[in-house]
Amino acid sequence: MQLVIKKAQSIHGSITVPGDKSISHRAVMIGSLAGGVTHVTGFLPAGDCLSTMHCLELLGVKIDKLSETELKIHGVGLRGLKEPDDVLNTGNSGTTTRILPGILAGQDLFAVITGDESIRRRPMARVVEPLRLMGAEILGREDGRYAPLAVKGTILKGIRYDLPVASAQVKTSLLLAGLLADGDTVITEPSKSRDHTERMLELFGANLEVEGTTYKIKGGRQLIAQEVDIPGDISSAAFFIVAALIVAGSSLTIENVGVNNTRTGILDALKDMGANVELLGYEEISNEPRALIKVGHSPLRSTTIEGEIIPRMIDEIPVFAVAATQAKGKTVIRGAKELRVKESDRIAALSAELKKMGADIEELEDGMVINGPTRLKGARVKSHGDHRIAMSLAVAALVAEGESVIENSGCIAISYPSFEKTLLSCNSY
Ligand code: S3P
Repeated sequence: MQLVIKKAQSIHGSITVPGDKSISHRAVMIGSLAGGVTHVTGFLPAGDCLSTMHCLELLGVKIDKLSETELKIHGVGLRGLKEPDDVLNTGNSGTTTRILPGILAGQDLFAVITGDESIRRRPMARVVEPLRLMGAEILGREDGRYAPLAVKGTILKGIRYDLPVASAQVKTSLLLAGLLADGDTVITEPSKSRDHTERMLELFGANLEVEGTTYKIKGGRQLIAQEVDIPGDISSAAFFIVAALIVAGSSLTIENVGVNNTRTGILDALKDMGANVELLGYEEISNEPRALIKVGHSPLRSTTIEGEIIPRMIDEIPVFAVAATQAKGKTVIRGAKELRVKESDRIAALSAELKKMGADIEELEDGMVINGPTRLKGARVKSHGDHRIAMSLAVAALVAEGESVIENSGCIAISYPSFEKTLLSCNSY
């Protein structure tokens, strides 16, 4: 599959983006562990979240699909999951692969977790090691550093643990294991990662205390089913935000976007570059804030991103780099080594592909240096099997002279199956 994109005239109109991927995963997982029926609206029916749904179904959870985006999850209670009669396939989803061991380690079952070739290359020790400290029995390739992972459920005990890297996946895995464990589990992360789990656990009645970047959960408290309405994914909106910023004459509104402060680093970074971005009609539903985002073409200047903003925009750095190619001056991205162990090595993949389009971009071990503005030219580029690389290149193609071809673009369906359709709806060539 390939995506052919020509230089755009302008990006305009009003769009919506599909449901937040992180919140969709959590709604299915936490809803499954609750008592009662959780009603979910705004679910993201994309590859990664469908992987989570299929795994929970194999674990004995009944999920009614009222439509693609509306689910009824028949929760089985904290320790009610059943032994699956087959391997749990997490596809391309790192979130599913890392959170499941935390949920399964405290159940009375045996399960094997594996995923695609990218998943089997991604580091798993970050969850396996602390879970073992809680008493979990987990085996895996290279002593648990890589999937497939095999989990034999047991009785867990609460621990105190400092996360070496800020990671919402690891934090979530440990908090959910802590929910099933005896006693308290206290974890601290070096800087704040997305807090959707904390917000949802609060909504479902867990006994969780949050103080800065320290989280304490009491084991054994039963969760109660809830109504969960999921806002649009700011990570998906980011592609259109950057598109409207860099294509001359653009003006776009994006409705109902999740604007949780742990996810809006991209807006802060772009505003710092001079972007004309406005948030209107802020409201909170299901413990998650959302707003309408208004964005128009803006001349951009360079900036530096590093430190605490990095986890707040980690998934948006690829499209941020595209914006930086159009900004005046030297943009520096540092402290983002995690990008090397995402769905692809995003630093290497982006640098290689954007260079083919004429970008002035230098790879750092933990980031990139981008000099702008450059006039990009259409090129044949590769997705590296990574949905966010494919969509970022598509955005770059909107300002490139001529035509670009993004090869192997099928991976876009991992997070945003309707991306091309929405792009066609707001793009005049
Ligand atoms: C996610 C957390 C982040 C992010 C990923 C989704 C989540 O990863 O990059 O796309 O839903 O918890 P880390 O936990 O590795 O930071």
